[in-house]
Amino acid sequence: MKPRIGVLTSGGDCPGLNAVLRGVVLASEKLGWEVVGFRDGFEGLLPPGDHVILDRKSTNGIMALGGTIIGTTNRGHFVAKVGAGDRAVVPADVIARAKKILDELGVRALIIIGGDGSMTTALQLQEAGINCIGVPKTIDNDIEATAMTFGFDSAVAEVMDACDRLHTTATSHKRVMVVEVMGRHAGWIALHGGIAGGADIILIPEIPFDYDKIGEAIKNRDAAGNLGTLVVVAEGARAKDGQQIKRDVEGGEFRLGGIGEVVAREIAQRTGKDTRSCVLGHLQRGGAPTTLDRILGTRFGVKAVQLANEGHFGSMVSYQNYQVRHVPIAEAVNRLRLVPPNGEMVQTARDVEISFGE
Ligand code: F6P
Repeated sequence: MKPRIGVLTSGGDCPGLNAVLRGVVLASEKLGWEVVGFRDGFEGLLPPGDHVILDRKSTNGIMALGGTIIGTTNRGHFVAKVGAGDRAVVPADVIARAKKILDELGVRALIIIGGDGSMTTALQLQEAGINCIGVPKTIDNDIEATAMTFGFDSAVAEVMDACDRLHTTATSHKRVMVVEVMGRHAGWIALHGGIAGGADIILIPEIPFDYDKIGEAIKNRDAAGNLGTLVVVAEGARAKDGQQIKRDVEGGEFRLGGIGEVVAREIAQRTGKDTRSCVLGHLQRGGAPTTLDRILGTRFGVKAVQLANEGHFGSMVSYQNYQVRHVPIAEAVNRLRLVPPNGEMVQTARDVEISFGE
């Protein structure tokens, strides 16, 4: 029997997951290994072991597809994180059952493609004696110890496209358009998408805002002769004296959403302007990956196999200074990579007259 390596995709999906899978398969086949794909994240590891053999035929043509061909979940038996900073322990018997399945299938190492929560689970599996390699994924781009995750660029492209569309209608009607984008804890999507889309106001979790300042900024824009105003708000943003807007709780985790509508209402009250809001939601997570995400995903997949071949278990692929390297998984968890409020990106935005509502 050929040596076997396992792979799974975990957490929220994002464009580029299939590019990683394809990279893993092609690099593994080059080494003479067989790839076992577990379905629906870590859940596929549970008895009887929901798996599929991935080879060049079954992964042919998948790079351009959004989502993941082996499925994913951000719920289930292996959830090790229910919010920023939280760490739940995956029950020992759940890990033992997964280990038994891996042993029975002859899987020597497991590549885990996921975000912060999945890396927290990966660390616990590694500590329990399962050889793990992490591949960082999230549209939010908030994983510590890597300068970038794949999926982010595709999400930003979607925000930019939405901004371009909203600009024209905002200008025609002399309206304020508010667009709510993803980003639970970090405002990277709002910041990059807003800059690329020519937003006038960007609201992010790292910089609590003041509704009066937003109102003033819009009035100043009107006085200067601008026809419309575009506001990009991250779902996790909040007013200085307010809370994050939460929809409901699912699996112990809050679902965010609704801040765009609240911001639009407050703006209308303060400025008397016709204001509309729109939520981009999962449009940012679906669809084909951008060029950058296809390339980054491929590089990450190939690197993960190299790390397994070299025995670097317990490490996560990491993007640093244009190079794909690796770091201990432990360095990537317990802390999120947030937007520095006075960093170069925020300063650049300020210098092109973008207000953060401070
Ligand atoms: O973490 C990625 C993310 O897309 C967040 O930006 C968002 O809050 C969350 O996932 C949405 O999760 P779900 O698909 O479970 O609603």
